Amino acid sequence: MSTEIVRLEAVEKIYQTGENYITALDTTDLVFESNKLTLIMGPSGSGKTTLLSIVGCIIYPTKGKVFYKDKEVTKLSEDELADLRLHEVGFVFQQFNLIEPLNALENVAQPLILRNIPKKEAKERAEGALKAVGLEDRMGNLPKKLSGGQKQRVAIARALVGNPSMILCDEPTASLDAKSAGIIMQELKELAEEGKAVIIVTHDLRLRKYADRVIYVEEGKVSNTIKNEEDYK
Ligand SMILES: Nc1ncnc2c1ncn2[C@@H]1O[C@H](COP(=O)(O)OP(=O)(O)O)[C@@H](O)[C@H]1O
Ligand SMILES: [Mg+2]
Repeated sequence: MSTEIVRLEAVEKIYQTGENYITALDTTDLVFESNKLTLIMGPSGSGKTTLLSIVGCIIYPTKGKVFYKDKEVTKLSEDELADLRLHEVGFVFQQFNLIEPLNALENVAQPLILRNIPKKEAKERAEGALKAVGLEDRMGNLPKKLSGGQKQRVAIARALVGNPSMILCDEPTASLDAKSAGIIMQELKELAEEGKAVIIVTHDLRLRKYADRVIYVEEGKVSNTIKNEEDYK
């Protein structure tokens, strides 16, 4: 049972630097659904982050249309786009991006505070999100008192605390050892099973066993097959 969350229709992204134009993403039609964990793979510079940024309503495409649950994102103003992002998308990055002077609980509560949710409720929901990733005994720790894998679980709790429909991750396991990476992927897989659309950019072929779907990007072109498996060894 899965429903459509995001749809890209003939989306293209062209960057201009000086006199040069770079087609970061060539004409692309794609649908991402709830209850699915999708991996986006491809060599460096192939357009993966550009694709993720369009899906996550961080940037507008140069051409084409993006729909979020049938609402046309490409017609929204910057403010409306930011609002959609805040309520519907959770981001997880390679470098965790935790705020150093805040403890785990305060980091996770931060997106709710930004949404003007009262402090008490924000704290309770942050506790719930940290429990969901198995960190109930680390809530008071500052980021520097957490391992890499624990920091990434805090980042996942922060991404899911606002109850978004999509969780987008850019190389979430790249700075983790194999065991911590496995724990992170298991968490993300469970979030997909609970109904989120989970989309993960990665270079790591070993993560394919967690995926419901793998898409491949090469020179801005998206396909459903991995062509140069040797590149990943
Ligand atoms: N803001 C930008 N301005 C100009 N060129 C960019 C910008 N962002 C990305 N690019 C270019 O677009 C292409 C795709 O980049 P990116 O989506 O970051 O690839 P990946 O994440 O697969 O490494 C690259 O050639 C990159 O140099
Ligand atoms: Mg990238």
